[in-house]
Amino acid sequence: MCGIIGYIGEKKASPILINGLLCLEYRGYDSAGIATLEKDGITVKKDKGRVKNLYNLEGIDSLEGTVGIAHTRWATHGKPSMENAHPHLDNSSTFAVVHNGIIENYSELRDFLTEKGYHFLSQTDTEVIPNLIHYYFSQDSKKDDDQLLRAVKSTCDDLKGSYAIEVISPLFPDRIIVVRKDSPLVIGTCKKENHIASDIPAVLAFTKNFYLLNDQEYAVVYKNRIRFFDASLVEHTKAINNIEWDAAAAEKDGFEDYMLKEIYEQPNAIRETIGSRFRLGEKCSFDDINLTKEYLSSLDKIYFVACGTAMHAGLIAKNVVEKLCRIPCEVEVASEFRYRDPIIDEKTLCIFISQSGETADTIAALKLAKQKGCKTLTITNVIGSSITREADYTIYTHAGPEIAVASTKAYTSQIVLLIILAMHFAEILNSYPEEKIEKLKADILDIPSKIETILDNVDEIKAFAKKVYTQKDMFFLGRGMDYAVSMEGSLKLKEISYIHSEAYAAGELKHGPIALIENGVTVIGVITDPKLVEKSISNMQEIITRGAYTLVVTNQVLPNVHFNSVINIPETDPLLSSLLSIVPLQCLSYYISKNKGLDVDKPRNLAKSVTVE
Ligand code: F6R
Repeated sequence: MCGIIGYIGEKKASPILINGLLCLEYRGYDSAGIATLEKDGITVKKDKGRVKNLYNLEGIDSLEGTVGIAHTRWATHGKPSMENAHPHLDNSSTFAVVHNGIIENYSELRDFLTEKGYHFLSQTDTEVIPNLIHYYFSQDSKKDDDQLLRAVKSTCDDLKGSYAIEVISPLFPDRIIVVRKDSPLVIGTCKKENHIASDIPAVLAFTKNFYLLNDQEYAVVYKNRIRFFDASLVEHTKAINNIEWDAAAAEKDGFEDYMLKEIYEQPNAIRETIGSRFRLGEKCSFDDINLTKEYLSSLDKIYFVACGTAMHAGLIAKNVVEKLCRIPCEVEVASEFRYRDPIIDEKTLCIFISQSGETADTIAALKLAKQKGCKTLTITNVIGSSITREADYTIYTHAGPEIAVASTKAYTSQIVLLIILAMHFAEILNSYPEEKIEKLKADILDIPSKIETILDNVDEIKAFAKKVYTQKDMFFLGRGMDYAVSMEGSLKLKEISYIHSEAYAAGELKHGPIALIENGVTVIGVITDPKLVEKSISNMQEIITRGAYTLVVTNQVLPNVHFNSVINIPETDPLLSSLLSIVPLQCLSYYISKNKGLDVDKPRNLAKSVTVE
């Protein structure tokens, strides 16, 4: 869960590297460092703390090298410290390495190298890599142009785990060697320079032309060419991907924080995700998946597997697919699914949802489902991400880059895409009346402007945030899909405000949690399902009687009950209401976090891409 950057060209590398790291800080931010090739060899500058601290390191301005690698860290092995920060060098300072991922057998490799006389300066798993490269390099008697590449390959053959690695050496000053396995890495290419990064937005300012490395594929990156090799070092050619994302979309665009910008981008992200998937009067189109009536009719179950917010999108999808297709659905967190020997087979369709497409548990769960004979479909936002290379089918949300650690526009885009997918299945299966699907399509097309209306009226939410931001605990209540939205609202609050919160199915309240309600406790109710209004109101009454301080998000006409605050949102089909009711809850978390003076985009202990288990 770290970020890596590389540059080779004709400009001074260090400012480009540091700027790139700033874009990747969402991936980890407890220490950072760069290494450049200078006239007298490798120079490393690194320290614990944020990337911006690198600007203050002595000698950073005098680096002249035009080749360099860089890293921002989220500690796994060894606490955040200068010694544990990357880049790491081998004992002879001939090879510098940055690494994102985890080397599972590092202690075995450390013992091996220690026996050979190597010593270690850090507690990291990474430090074995430059030393193994040195070991294999010195064992190789063939002194040719690919000697370093062979040493890197022999090293990777020894590694168990995940990695995206960059290697530089003054012995080969015209190149950076890179390789990846289960950790992301892209190469952006332009005239007379190449850029390497953990994700596309970090180098979008330079180019829109990218090579997306496959698992265990090596690249030797020079300033004006790139050579690609497979896992056995057989050279091959590779196609360039043209990425249409706008560089400005990955910047803050005048918003104080990425999270706020991304909340406000939801209407457009949804419009993009709908794209040309359907038009009124026409069937939904999913040319990229090809699931037949015969196959869909044979299914006895659909599984939605994901983590965190993406799993919450799965909870909404379960309700919609069951209603429209009458196929039983299950939703499970990937880290449980993969270790549970789930009962799945060729009659199960497994749908994996992941914004980043790099979440280790979700990818492992997908591999398990494939082994058990299921068809696998993934929904992701990141083109060419690791999960897309494993799944039978991939469909993309087109939410644009999501930088803030707390997911917002990815969630609503996932829900929209899942609902369109459910309509597509229903159209194939004839399982839901045509006119009702048509009405649903019209309602989906109205969702973006309804979100705009909510976002134009956030004063009440801001005022509520001001009143409750000092609270220690909060509760979210809802029934049916409102419960699923409550879970997502509660997660958002925990993540960025550090306030403890719980979401409960409102009907469960009396079975225990109501014991926690006392004078002044904040309770947030989501009430959008017309069939459940009365029931939900009774539950809210029960907690008001016990002194709760309440906010209700609703699109229903509520009976005369005294809530402390009511956020009215536009009406829509109950199957779609999560797309609207989550928006005030996202804003509430955001403004509570701001009132507390916290770093909204980079909450403590979290990282955007959870590439470790
Ligand atoms: C919450 C959040 C996380 C992610 C989870 C899965 O705001 O962002 O809970 O949803 O880590 O990440 P992806 O979707 O990238 O697999």
